[in-house]
Amino acid sequence: MSISKPHGGVLINRFVQADAVADLTRKAESLKKIVLTDREISDLELIATGVFSPLEGFMGSADYENVLQNMRLKNGLPWSLPITLSVTEAEAKPLKEGTALALYDESGLALAVLDLEEIFTFDKEKEALSVYGTNDFSHPGVAYTHAQGNYLLGGKINMIRRPAVQAFQEHRLEPSETREIFLKKGWSRVVAFQTRNPVHRAHEYIQKCAMEITDGLLLHPIVGATKKGDIPADVRMDCYRVLLDNYYPKDRTILSVFPAAMRYGGPKEAIFHAICRKNYGVTHFIVGRDHAGVGDFYGTYDAQNIFKKFEPGELDIQPLFFDHSFYCKRCLGMASAKTCSHDPEERIALSGTKVREMLSKGIKPPLEFSRPEVAEILIESMTGLKKK
Ligand code: ADX
Repeated sequence: MSISKPHGGVLINRFVQADAVADLTRKAESLKKIVLTDREISDLELIATGVFSPLEGFMGSADYENVLQNMRLKNGLPWSLPITLSVTEAEAKPLKEGTALALYDESGLALAVLDLEEIFTFDKEKEALSVYGTNDFSHPGVAYTHAQGNYLLGGKINMIRRPAVQAFQEHRLEPSETREIFLKKGWSRVVAFQTRNPVHRAHEYIQKCAMEITDGLLLHPIVGATKKGDIPADVRMDCYRVLLDNYYPKDRTILSVFPAAMRYGGPKEAIFHAICRKNYGVTHFIVGRDHAGVGDFYGTYDAQNIFKKFEPGELDIQPLFFDHSFYCKRCLGMASAKTCSHDPEERIALSGTKVREMLSKGIKPPLEFSRPEVAEILIESMTGLKKK
């Protein structure tokens, strides 16, 4: 066995050669300019570094429609979320298909040149219903969809430079780098864990179950835009570091960031998360309860069931499904309904709201729910008593 092949067979790299950077920067200055949002900048980087392989740019209408209707690109390859670049009508008006366009960040830095192949309109409600299963504006993904401009620009990108802000530099590994590390370590079975939360005991339990049957863990927290109310990435990173230092074997664990924006797309985002991790070389991907969910929009195991829509081998990454896990006082250990026969009253289960309430009052959740070192960091950040 060996690490995963990229989705579609080839790891995409859309960076221009170093000796072309100055020329393309100059060329960008003469082109029509579009200023990207944070999400678009993050998608741009993920395309360029191959995380979104086989995508070479923002989707045109054929890929876009196929993804919404069939969860596949136009060439039939599984793909579950649209990766698009939107502009307003006023921005779209002067643009011409078949020309090049410069993509800038807000500070005026030229990031890429887009070969504009297609300008097209889209139905936001249809997109929301397909991707999120709802058109309810209280869903953060639906709200984002409707807040976009009315036109989409499709075409390949030519990346000039990485975005200026690269938080967590020491934990930034691109797919070519993780692949190299896995090969060097001799890992052929690598499990990735997606998270937008601090790692509590339930998360730790399912990671460690997976570590028992693989060579190593890629702890891969998402650090792109998340919704209001989610714990900020810098606080989470402190939590992950302290947890790994104290409770995980160093030589079998890698902490690296996943610089994507969170979509809260539940099942469809679970497929997307798995495909992206495959591009990092990962062979196994953890999907637990309500993966990438928000509120009550998805059923507890929808994000596991959706994997049945693909033939075995089509995704070419092994999902590892875990039931809702908890600490059982009778078992004296972490368990799930699959391994524990005791009454639900024996479980130490706390809602997110309850935990937040405790932490913000400076109260540590029970040891069976959170490691004390993690709870301390969360309390420091929530009570404003951060030591740093
Ligand atoms: S997510 O939006 O990134 O999915 P979160 O960070 O809470 O949110 O979850 C990370 C992973 O752990 C997901 O695969 C999720 O399904 C899983 N998970 C979270 N809590 C539990 C739990 N108590 N039992 C089993 N799986 C869980």
